[in-house]
Amino acid sequence: MKKMMIVYWSGTGNTKLMAEAIGEGAAPVWPGEIQIASVDQVSATDVLAADALALGCPAMGDEVLEESEMEPFIELLDGKKAAAAQVALFGSYDWGDGQWMRDWVERMTAMGFPVLGEGLAVHNAPVDQDLEKCRELGKKLASLQ
Ligand SMILES: Cc1cc2nc3c(=O)[nH]c(=O)nc-3n(C[C@H](O)[C@H](O)[C@H](O)COP(=O)(O)O)c2cc1C
Repeated sequence: MKKMMIVYWSGTGNTKLMAEAIGEGAAPVWPGEIQIASVDQVSATDVLAADALALGCPAMGDEVLEESEMEPFIELLDGKKAAAAQVALFGSYDWGDGQWMRDWVERMTAMGFPVLGEGLAVHNAPVDQDLEKCRELGKKLASLQ
């Protein structure tokens, strides 16, 4: 059975809400299992083997990924190849201008991961319009495979 993984780190729940909405959008289209999980609950091996993949992390530190769990996890993926045709990146931010997401997209692309679009960055807690964008992203990711 095909497996989609939507893996996130979220301190105050905003990026988690995005992950859940991506899963909602993917569900009617995706012909298999969808696992939505916090990054501490998954292995790099499973993530690399997923048929569809979305990774989420808010802007933390000074426009960087969360440093205790998500950053080491992304480092584990470096030099490896994902089975997924495309990887969606998403996350929430507050006072910045989305630099962390531009940097993350550039970094994953340089690592050889086929990133879907520009990444989905949402300001603080996702409102209805943002959740709709998340659902659309999930639908797109599911239909690309
Ligand atoms: C320690 C810390 C560092 C942060 N650094 C940034 C930053 O560099 N740029 C930014 O736009 N927002 C920054 N934020 C704001 C978070 O990205 C924002 O609150 C986001 O909605 C949190 O998502 P979450 O609910 O998924 O944890 C920071 C928040 C914290 C707690």
